[in-house]
Amino acid sequence: MKGRAVYIKTFGCQMNEHDTERMLGILETKGFIEVEEPRKADIIIFNTCAIRHKAEQKFLSSLGRVKYLKKRNSQLKIVVAGCVAQLQGENLLNKAPYIDYIIGTDNIHMLDSIIENQTPHRVFTYENPDVTNIKIPTKRMHNVKAWVNIIYGCNNYCAYCVVPYSRGKERSRPVESILEEVKLLGELGFKEVTLLGQNVNSYRDGSVDFPALLEKVNEVKGIERIRFVTSHPKDLSKRLIQTMKDCEKVCEHIHLPLQAGSNKILKLMNRKYSYEEYFEKICWLREAIRNISITSDIIVGFPQEQDEDFEKTLDALREIQFDGIFAFKFSPRAQTPAAKLDGAIPENVKSRRLTEVLKLQDEITERKNKLLEGTIQEVLIEDREGEYSTGRTRTNKIVKVTSNIALGSMVDIKIVKAHRHSLEGEILQK
Ligand code: SAH
Ligand code: SF4
Ligand code: F3S
Repeated sequence: MKGRAVYIKTFGCQMNEHDTERMLGILETKGFIEVEEPRKADIIIFNTCAIRHKAEQKFLSSLGRVKYLKKRNSQLKIVVAGCVAQLQGENLLNKAPYIDYIIGTDNIHMLDSIIENQTPHRVFTYENPDVTNIKIPTKRMHNVKAWVNIIYGCNNYCAYCVVPYSRGKERSRPVESILEEVKLLGELGFKEVTLLGQNVNSYRDGSVDFPALLEKVNEVKGIERIRFVTSHPKDLSKRLIQTMKDCEKVCEHIHLPLQAGSNKILKLMNRKYSYEEYFEKICWLREAIRNISITSDIIVGFPQEQDEDFEKTLDALREIQFDGIFAFKFSPRAQTPAAKLDGAIPENVKSRRLTEVLKLQDEITERKNKLLEGTIQEVLIEDREGEYSTGRTRTNKIVKVTSNIALGSMVDIKIVKAHRHSLEGEILQK
């Protein structure tokens, strides 16, 4: 059949965005086109996130808004994929019987059978041992940079987090399969790859660990920049830092979630490091890699976080001077041990702490960005918006230039003005 249309809405992290690229890849091979409005679609897909209550609520309200479309078009299929689908499975069908299919995080490939009406089942949430090996066509969102999965699931069980339940246990993808994908991306003209996993540092396939994998990806022709997310601080080794330094394509940026500055809270969170251990690793990184940019995640209002604990998070931000952070109010998730802890923090206190953290970090980010005024940065042009071209420095800072520069160009840019969340630059040479 030709000319069918899909509407897809994605919530959550890069992992979900990449899964969306793969679902669109499957649909494209079946002749589907993507549309921006649910009412024009033959199939509606929600790729959901369960990390915080708010993310789940956003999905549920989007779902409620398309219910009436089923009455107008009996052929319409509604599919729920991603982390909420995995966690709730059948229950979601009981709550919203107008959903046609539930596709969990290990079962994206089932979309194929679903659109061909080849399966009598509606819920696919089983653990799929082949998930690291299945080849799925991918419709990439960008032309210059691409995501590449290297490890699935997570074994860390941070006390607040649903990911070990929604993405299953940790499984590394075979190194040959990763290299094959990266080589193809290089041949297709992609310039940058981001290696994806909830904890990339625990990657292992036989004798190949994460630093060894980086060395191999560094050899791939055509690829000029390598990034990776996310690193768990407990697994960040000196060897990895040395490899980042030695591999010229690996960019000078690391996202290293701290979560909290108080050891009492880190322990309750089951993060498996103390603030002092974390800070030592920050020192190693800065000693080895000049100008490395370091970003982080912070949770405020974890159960039993007293004012003095929260102060330690602020102290940590002052001491470490991150380039940027994402900060969140703790959101209790049903499946997790943290949801059962005593000492819940009232909502108004969480909000106040979040505002305080963001205000302090904004000042730090702005001050750090100001130091870049007048410097020359290598920028990979990724996008064009009206009269601007935009790209990123190797340290992952966004730069806007008022020139029309070809996508995928690597250019030297002089930073003329620094803002809190972006830099403005002028082109020096092409
Ligand atoms: N695997 C990655 C990212 C996990 S989710 C990692 O370990 O860093 C991204 C961020 O969401 C986490 O770093 C954490 O800061 C935040 N987060 C996770 N669960 C949360 C919860 N229940 N409430 C608030 N924030 C949460
Ligand atoms: Fe969640 Fe912790 Fe795993 Fe990250 S490392 S996905 S925060 S359990
Ligand atoms: Fe959300 Fe699942 Fe990612 S819970 S943050 S989409 S791994």
